[in-house]
Amino acid sequence: MLRDELQRWHKGVLAELAAAASVEAVEQLRVAALGRKGELTRILRGLGQVEAAERPALGELANRLKESFSQALGERLGVLQKEALAARLEAERIDVTLPGRERSVGGMHPITRAMGEITAVFTALGFATASGPEIESDWHNFGALNIPADHPAREMHDTFYLPDDAGGGKRVLRTHTSPVQIRVMEGRQPPLRVIAPGRVFRCDSDVTHTPMFHQVEGFLVDTGVHFGQLKGVLEHFLRRFFERELPVRFRPSYFPFTEPSAEADMGCLFCQGGGCRICKGTGWLEVLGCGMIHPNVLANVGIDREIHSGFAFGMGVERLAMLKYGIDDMRALFDNDVRFLEKFRQ
Ligand code: PHE
Repeated sequence: MLRDELQRWHKGVLAELAAAASVEAVEQLRVAALGRKGELTRILRGLGQVEAAERPALGELANRLKESFSQALGERLGVLQKEALAARLEAERIDVTLPGRERSVGGMHPITRAMGEITAVFTALGFATASGPEIESDWHNFGALNIPADHPAREMHDTFYLPDDAGGGKRVLRTHTSPVQIRVMEGRQPPLRVIAPGRVFRCDSDVTHTPMFHQVEGFLVDTGVHFGQLKGVLEHFLRRFFERELPVRFRPSYFPFTEPSAEADMGCLFCQGGGCRICKGTGWLEVLGCGMIHPNVLANVGIDREIHSGFAFGMGVERLAMLKYGIDDMRALFDNDVRFLEKFRQ
């Protein structure tokens, strides 16, 4: 009887379904039971031989059983999928507390590294970082810094002059980072505590000079700023940066944009004052220029020099990097020879 056959089919596939232990087994069962070449299709082919009056009832039964099986199948599949996912999560569990395995993809260039280390010392002192353009107006690079066109101090800088801008303004490749002082002070009133790392350009090239090099400028403007604070900040910086208790001294010097001006020397790292090739026998290494910001400079940017005063300093990054990392040939910094750069992998 077709009716019994259908009932047996239903019982049979439900039992098989209960025994199916994996998502794949359930899928196979679905095809075997319901597919075009499956068992149910075969049974229903017998419907043709059944009396016409019985056909609707049998058809309806077949649909109900098929429906019931499909539903059971769906539920079983859901359970098995959940189990499979749980097993997979368990097997592929990742311990996020394990320390990472870092893949090294190269090292930082010593200049970049030195600039980062310089910046870190000043950031800890509350200095903010600023930057300015490398193509600079004559005014920002010289005029506002108290270096008028005919001033002999212009010759301290071997300047790359550029064609005038559209409005006829004189332009240069900045010869130092000091124009960033001007740009910051033009836009903001004190108190200011800023450093400005960046590239600078001078038309000069030999064993100890490259036409492009790096400086870090720093300045502070507030009420009652004095030279003693400048000394304190720079001593602190040099000791932090070189990670040792260095002697530091200040020698009078000249910069048009500071008054008084000084050059800071630190005790030679290589001979501890005895005199060697690096310090040319003096026991001292010249490392930065500094001074109290000239009143003319403050006036040029609209800061009231009766109320405010400030100090500024500038340092060459190549020199500091060479001293700190023991690099004796400046050209190594620009050759980009991987065998050299490898040594700075961190
Ligand atoms: N700009 C000067 C230079 O390039 C360095 C300096 C900066 C000196 C700020 C004093 C104050 O040599």
